[in-house]
Amino acid sequence: MLDNHLALLSPAEREHLDRLTVAGDRQRYLVGRVLLRTALSSATAQRVTPRQWQFDTATGGKPIVAPGLGLPPLEFNISHCRQLVVVAVGSDFPVGVDVEYLDRSIDSPPAAGVLAPGERAWLEGRLPEERAIDFLRLWTLKEAYAKLRGQGVSLDFATFEIGMDPPRIERTESGESASRNLHLSTEQVRMPDGLYQLSLAALCRKSRKPEVTVHLFREGFVGSEHGSSKLVRLAT
Ligand SMILES: CC(C)(COP(=O)(O)OP(=O)(O)OC[C@H]1O[C@@H](n2cnc3c(N)ncnc32)[C@H](O)[C@@H]1OP(=O)(O)O)[C@@H](O)C(=O)NCCC(=O)NCCS
Repeated sequence: MLDNHLALLSPAEREHLDRLTVAGDRQRYLVGRVLLRTALSSATAQRVTPRQWQFDTATGGKPIVAPGLGLPPLEFNISHCRQLVVVAVGSDFPVGVDVEYLDRSIDSPPAAGVLAPGERAWLEGRLPEERAIDFLRLWTLKEAYAKLRGQGVSLDFATFEIGMDPPRIERTESGESASRNLHLSTEQVRMPDGLYQLSLAALCRKSRKPEVTVHLFREGFVGSEHGSSKLVRLAT
């Protein structure tokens, strides 16, 4: 089983795997890549086999599908945390995804510098006993947005603002006000070890609501056949 999955990886992915020394990190990386490859193949009705996919890295570090397979552009993003690995696939529009374990014991609000003023005010208005969870709802949305943008840690999290209930962008990092093209959603996912918050961001200029397929790896290790997928229609 493990050999079958390793055989799907490119030499670069194997090298990356070899550099990971923590067993859990290795498992999450391997599951993520297998889930990604099978998800992309199913999005193309198997016109490309899981092993054929090639990847590049965009400026800022975001992994992308390498051009050259003669296919319409396919966008994806991966997130993993503890037992959960998530792959989001958008058809031809950028997506970002983030998952975090819902740990009710975390301190909140966090250091002021990572939230925009409106976000801090929203958090301060929440019930004290719910604040840790509310912070993680907001935080995963911010991470999903940063990952959509593909700028990773270079994006200053205090420069853009997410509004909540329903989630929406209030101000982008370049100062633009609410964008109708940016779609956000957040939900809880139950796993054997507890609840996780899963947030998605998609930038879609089409008039229809964007559809993002979310592939979850939920149980055991390893293999996308243990995963499940669902289509998420993001609110406008
Ligand atoms: C690289 C980064 C995106 C990883 O985020 P994370 O929450 O630690 O981990 P996640 O599991 O959610 O995401 C990891 C996946 O993101 C993807 N990724 C890596 N760089 C990325 C980037 N620049 N943009 C989007 N996705 C990226 C990869 O597919 C990676 O999985 P893989 O290595 O198994 O292929 C993260 O370091 C980052 O830049 N986060 C946003 C900015 C941030 O953290 N700011 C902190 C302000 S205090």
